[in-house]
Amino acid sequence: MSMTIDFSGKTVLVTGGGRGLGKDMALLFAECGARVMIAGRGVSYLEKTVSEINDLGAKGSYLACDVSKSDDVKALVTAAVEFGRGRLDVVVHAAGVQSIDDLLLTTDEEIAKVMAINVGGTANIIKHALPVLQKQKAGNMVIISSIAARDGGPANQIYCASKAAVTSLIQSASKMAAPSGVRVNGILPGIIYTDMWDDILIGRAHNGDPGDTREVSEDEKKRLWKEALEEIPLGRAQQPRDISWSTAFMASDFASEITGQCLCIDGGMTSGR
Ligand SMILES: NC(=O)c1ccc[n+]([C@@H]2O[C@H](COP(=O)([O-])OP(=O)(O)OC[C@H]3O[C@@H](n4cnc5c(N)ncnc54)[C@H](O)[C@@H]3O)[C@@H](O)[C@H]2O)c1
Repeated sequence: MSMTIDFSGKTVLVTGGGRGLGKDMALLFAECGARVMIAGRGVSYLEKTVSEINDLGAKGSYLACDVSKSDDVKALVTAAVEFGRGRLDVVVHAAGVQSIDDLLLTTDEEIAKVMAINVGGTANIIKHALPVLQKQKAGNMVIISSIAARDGGPANQIYCASKAAVTSLIQSASKMAAPSGVRVNGILPGIIYTDMWDDILIGRAHNGDPGDTREVSEDEKKRLWKEALEEIPLGRAQQPRDISWSTAFMASDFASEITGQCLCIDGGMTSGR
């Protein structure tokens, strides 16, 4: 069975689009016919993803930026509108960082960094992209939070807190946007094996102690990964495509009556919460 949602003629901006979940979303939007601009920190990742977008026969472009810097995000949105020949239809904000340390051991610098990127970065993308969509009276945003926003956790508490703030920003932005017919929604992924989860496994092996620099073997990571999967009622990790299709649905006209919502894609982990 082949599936598609038609995004032909649409311009989509994906932050964090160079690798991991953002990359898969960028490729899916390209497969669905969109022109896709991506942003992130690693130029080599961005270049590779744009070349894969172009290989699909779609138009891709990138701009390296730090989403925690307001001026960078302002320049990114300007570049995306230019790339879209004066229009921006969908903004997907997937850029984010994990914090693997236990709160009691987390440094002040780590707390400030995670908050600046996850919360500040989301605020910056709303601040600079939402007015463009409001002026058009069309378009929508999909912001990637996390199920970690729902109930905190025994470790990586700063990440959980930052994602709870991201979820709050999604709700506020949806209220700001609604009078102009613009939608803002959230996707809350569960457990997907990207580079980010590799870091989480290392954090778990070190019991959240940033002072522990012991090398973690692949066998130990496999054991910890298996333990993590035991928390999932459906019994398996989510795949990047599970997240990308949900994002594409939220960004499409099929979701034209949905705004201010956060959809958990987690195999049932947060059911009832
Ligand atoms: N992988 C999971 O299981 C999972 C679960 C829940 C939520 N998420 C969320 O999904 C999103 C993508 O995560 P991922 O698993 O693909 O991780 P990843 O580490 O593979 O990708 C993160 C992306 O964010 C970009 N980024 C980080 N800091 C940035 C900054 N300051 N400025 C610009 N770009 C920056 C990186 O360049 C990278 O492209 C994140 O917001 C993450 O919190 C992931």
